[in-house]
Formats: sequence, structure tokens, C-alpha cells
Amino acid sequence: MASGAGSNFEALVLAGRTGSLQAEVVQLIVNNPGCGAQQRAQRLAINCSLLDHRQHPSREALDAAIVAQLEGQDIDLVVMAGWMRIVTPVLIDAYAGRLINIHPSLLPSFKGLDAVVQALRAGVTLAGCSVHLVSEAVDAGEILMQAAVPVLPGDDPTSLSARIQRQEHQLLPAAVALMGERLALQG
Ligand code: GAR
Repeated sequence: MASGAGSNFEALVLAGRTGSLQAEVVQLIVNNPGCGAQQRAQRLAINCSLLDHRQHPSREALDAAIVAQLEGQDIDLVVMAGWMRIVTPVLIDAYAGRLINIHPSLLPSFKGLDAVVQALRAGVTLAGCSVHLVSEAVDAGEILMQAAVPVLPGDDPTSLSARIQRQEHQLLPAAVALMGERLALQG
């Protein structure tokens, strides 16, 4: 699931294709028509569905459409890879323990929107990214993995986001692999 540029989506696809991750991305869902993620899916020949939140009357209705789209596809794990919508129990419960999100902060610090700006404003010297299980409270589910980066003198949101994103592209495939081990253990 992606809303924007889709660089994390592409990192996951490539990790699967190069064999560094034993997983295959079978489906992308985007909510913004023409977003970078949608274009990447086309280039990478991944099936992509547009479920525009503006065409759904509520968050629950959008999530029900997502569940309906994923149904019957033998999907083990759902990844919010830059999904910029709050999700509801309609989706969370359908994929209980199998829905993960990547967030550009060292959670539990700087939840919600503009996490990188929040970190810069707070004056931290370490920033980073987290992959966590999705629960109803925003950005508050069990943390699976994190990576830290330094905040350097003169950093602005663009430079710090770029440094964080380089880590995200490693972290997200690693967290998917961890989830794969967990889910296999659980049978
Ligand atoms: C990523 O940095 C991700 O951590 C962030 O959106 C970016 C998407 O980039 N997610 C959130 O802020 C979720 N609250 P991408 O579209 O290039 O993968």
C-alpha cells in the first residue's frame, strides 16, 4: 500500500527479485491517481489497484475496499509502504498480526504527520525509521525493527529525509523477512 513516490515499494520488489528477500510483491494498492508508486508498479509489471479515498465515504469504506481487493490472493503480509491514510479495524482485524507500517522516526518519538520536521524542530541528534505492526492507535503498534541516522549540522527536511530513506530501503525488506520467520513459526 503506497500513497506517494513509492521508493519503499520498489525496494521491496527489488529485494524479492534479486533474492535477498524470500518474498514476492504480488499487488500494489495506491490511493492517489498518478502517484509515483503507481508509475513504478507499471514499470516493474506489478499489478496495481487504485482505490481513491476521495471516492469512498469513510475510512472504513476505503479499508473494506482494500480488504475486498486483497481477498482470494493468498497474501501473507500487507505492508503500508508510505500509506498516508489512517487505517481502521476493518483492515487491521482482517490482517491481524500481518499488517506492518514504515514510519520515518525512531518511534515512539514523533508519531503522525511530518515526523522528520518534528524531529528537526525537537533538535534531536539521532533520527531514523521504524517498522511496526499496525494497531488502532496511530504509529503505536509493536516495533519490529529500527534504524538510526545522525542529524547533521545544516540538515533540512529534504536532506534528513533522504538519509532516513536510504535506511528505510534496507529496513523494510529486513522487517518483511522477520515477519516471514514469525509467521512461519506460527504456522
Ligand atoms: C517514507 O519515508 C515513509 O516512512 C513515510 O512516507 C515515505 C514514503 O516514501 N511514511 C509515513 O510518513 C507514514 N506515516 P516512498 O513513497 O518513497 O516509499
